Amino acid sequence: MDKNELVNELARRRGFLWPAFELYGGAAGFYDYGPLGAPLKRRIEDIWRQYFVISEGFAEIEAPTIGVEGIYQASGHLSGFSDPLTSCKECKEIYRADHLIKHIIEVPDALSNEEIYKCIQDNEIGCPECGGELSEVYEFNLMFKTMIGPGNKMAGYLRPETAQGMFINFPRLLRYFRDSLPFAAVQIGKSFRNEISPRQGVIRLREFTQAEAEIFIDPRDKSHPRFAEIADIKMKFYSQAAQEKGEEEEMTFGEAAQRGVVAHQALAYYVARTYQFLLAVGVAADKLRFRQHKSDEMAHYAADCWDAEVFLDRLGWIEIVGVADRTDYDLVAHAQASRVNLSVFVHYDQPVKRKKLVIKPDYKALGPRFKARAKAVGEALKALSPEELEASRGDKIYLTIEGERIEIDSSLVSFESVEEEIRGEEVVPHVIEPSFGIDRIIYTVLDHSFYQDDVEGEMRSVLRFNPAVAPIEVAVLPLMDRKELSDPARAIVQELRSSGMRVDYDASGSIGRRYRRNDEIGTPFDITVDYEIREHGTVTIRDRDSMKQIKVSRRQIADKLSALLAGRIKFEDAGEPVALGKKE
Ligand code: GLY
Repeated sequence: MDKNELVNELARRRGFLWPAFELYGGAAGFYDYGPLGAPLKRRIEDIWRQYFVISEGFAEIEAPTIGVEGIYQASGHLSGFSDPLTSCKECKEIYRADHLIKHIIEVPDALSNEEIYKCIQDNEIGCPECGGELSEVYEFNLMFKTMIGPGNKMAGYLRPETAQGMFINFPRLLRYFRDSLPFAAVQIGKSFRNEISPRQGVIRLREFTQAEAEIFIDPRDKSHPRFAEIADIKMKFYSQAAQEKGEEEEMTFGEAAQRGVVAHQALAYYVARTYQFLLAVGVAADKLRFRQHKSDEMAHYAADCWDAEVFLDRLGWIEIVGVADRTDYDLVAHAQASRVNLSVFVHYDQPVKRKKLVIKPDYKALGPRFKARAKAVGEALKALSPEELEASRGDKIYLTIEGERIEIDSSLVSFESVEEEIRGEEVVPHVIEPSFGIDRIIYTVLDHSFYQDDVEGEMRSVLRFNPAVAPIEVAVLPLMDRKELSDPARAIVQELRSSGMRVDYDASGSIGRRYRRNDEIGTPFDITVDYEIREHGTVTIRDRDSMKQIKVSRRQIADKLSALLAGRIKFEDAGEPVALGKKE
């Protein structure tokens, strides 16, 4: 078995990830999180909240997973959110057409359907299953459609991204944030895409979890007030230029922003926060890079996008997060479609004084000429824009009143230059969007945490989870399943659980087997309760990674473990060492 198979087998056997609906034959692209997978997921989501809600002061909302058609008409998903397909004329199997030419064209996303089909024909690519001839390339929309209510009257779509929930709530969010920029809202929740042939476990799902932040910024100021906090962090940037050379460039975020490798501070800041979050949950730094999208692979809404890519055994480099500059694309689209103003009045620090040409209609002259319509003409004249006024000075002025075009000699009005004070202006915010694929991150954490080592001739499998994500933080193991040991062991379990720890009690099998079982699910610490608890009031704590053990007094267990789990003390400093091999 290669690593990919070992990780998948472990995840299935130990209750992290189960293919869904197995009882009824299953369906590709759907997975269950089992008793260890669900808490792993929850803990990773909670760390995400720590980074993208609590630390940033963003607002978490929860919108419906079904959306009405208008949203996706405006967002471009109805017309543009599709994959190119081709089907075998013989066996009728359906394929992603762009995937069939990936070995010929590096970025097939940039090709039209006709160009992909031509490439298939020119290279004599046949059906991968039976070798049959492939059909012309056609589009398949990835959204799941449903009908809302009886009578097929109202179409609905399962959301393909959580992002739209934030965009369409923009006016309420703006009010919540007291009408001032920047502000942001986030969602963690399910999204749905009817993927063509999802064959890569949780890497490509039809129902998946996204964690997305939509950060609304003033487009005239793309700096970030907390940029200094991340400016010295070094990371590998795989920019468009670096991709031309085929080599990532390592530099600090400060340098990346200054050299324009990342277009502006606001984008760079959230790339850096993404980097910090991924390391915090256990993504390996040496298997992580940030790759800038090429201009022809960018999503329809993005002006720039940096993907966090991780290296996974067998699968290669896989995108797990996209940090995109969505500009004002979505707000402009929703404002046009809904006819609701989605701009913000931004106050200047200092009011600006500006000369302005105003028009003064001469009603004495307009009255005899336009009679009952003189007032309407006067109002229309006053409503002319400064540009229109400037153009009409000393010339004819043209107005349309009640559908009728009217010509006015400029001698019937007088112009005056006045100074006005401008306190601010209306802007449509731009949006920076860090968008996380939580399921992919979970698989990456499993893959990057997994290793095997040889312990006295026996293979030990370990998930080297960071304690902050471990589904079980402590296992309490009575050396033997006897009342005089199980009673105190259960009392320790209860005490640790009441101080908030995730604790498992395991009394079945040899102590060595129980250590292996817990190593395999990533439990950072095991507590072994043996007769020393009766004789000396002590237990041992075993460290998963080093397999070392220390002796700790019964009374200090909760304090020591909470310090160990939080990384406040080193294992070696937490108790008296126990001779190696004694308990294994
Ligand atoms: N919101 C970005 C995405 O779903 O890909």
